[in-house]
Amino acid sequence: MNLSPFSFFNLFGTNPPICIFSPSRRVRGNTTKHTLENVLEVPECVINIVTYDMVQQTSLASVEYPKGVNEFIKSGFTPIASELVRPPRVAESPVQLECVVNEVKALGDGPGAGNLVIAEIKLMHIDERILDAEGRIDQLKLEHVARLGGDWYCHVSKDNLFKVAKPVRTMGIGVDAIPYAIRHSKILTGNNLGQLGNVEALPTDEAIDDYSQFPEIKELLDATIGDSQTRETQLHLKAKQLLDEGRVEEAWRVLLVG
Ligand SMILES: Cc1cc2nc3c(=O)[nH]c(=O)nc-3n(C[C@H](O)[C@H](O)[C@H](O)COP(=O)(O)O)c2cc1C
Repeated sequence: MNLSPFSFFNLFGTNPPICIFSPSRRVRGNTTKHTLENVLEVPECVINIVTYDMVQQTSLASVEYPKGVNEFIKSGFTPIASELVRPPRVAESPVQLECVVNEVKALGDGPGAGNLVIAEIKLMHIDERILDAEGRIDQLKLEHVARLGGDWYCHVSKDNLFKVAKPVRTMGIGVDAIPYAIRHSKILTGNNLGQLGNVEALPTDEAIDDYSQFPEIKELLDATIGDSQTRETQLHLKAKQLLDEGRVEEAWRVLLVG
């Protein structure tokens, strides 16, 4: 039984649900990998998502054992029968995708050439322990790993997960619509400008006036009367702090209150 890690992998469509991974031709000897040979022989596979707990055994599964060696046994993972396809699933993985292979696209015939395995997901098995209250995958519970260059990996954990508001249903004003002095601030970063440009409208004059009465803001404004440079610096610093906390509306009010 063949089991191999593939980091050249992604989801490319949801209707039909298509994953693609790429077992490339070996650089040494220009031979093809067993995974490729197997999907050409039997156009089915199971994609098992790898979590932090699985990473060392997964790496072990990348050893080029001779064809016929059971890589479940070598890596110590547990095979369980799939429901729709012949290859088994990895019991330890919280997301197992049973797929049929629609097409294999060779990207060349020289050493290192990729082979796109276009796999349509027919059945997903998702461990309930990684779901949130709404039944969606909870990124904090998944404990994903990402493979980077060389021997480097990243453990996707609460320390390095962050959110970016999706501009799908809204039409952001764009960075070009941000007033010049804000757009050219020495304090605000490109990320900050992206956040500011993602709002649909600037706060109303009324909302800005209200904000100028907030004790913290009033104090800042009073302390910088006649010193517009310091005022701008202080306001931009305050706005940056709010933006870094994801409080975009408030940041806009701070920036326009001066
Ligand atoms: C984390 C990790 C990711 C890998 N990703 C790929 C990949 O995307 N494409 C590839 O051809 N080989 C990749 N490899 C190497 C293959 O896993 C290795 O060549 C494979 O186990 C060959 O086995 P097979 O001949 O049984 O298919 C990766 C190895 C590791 C450890």
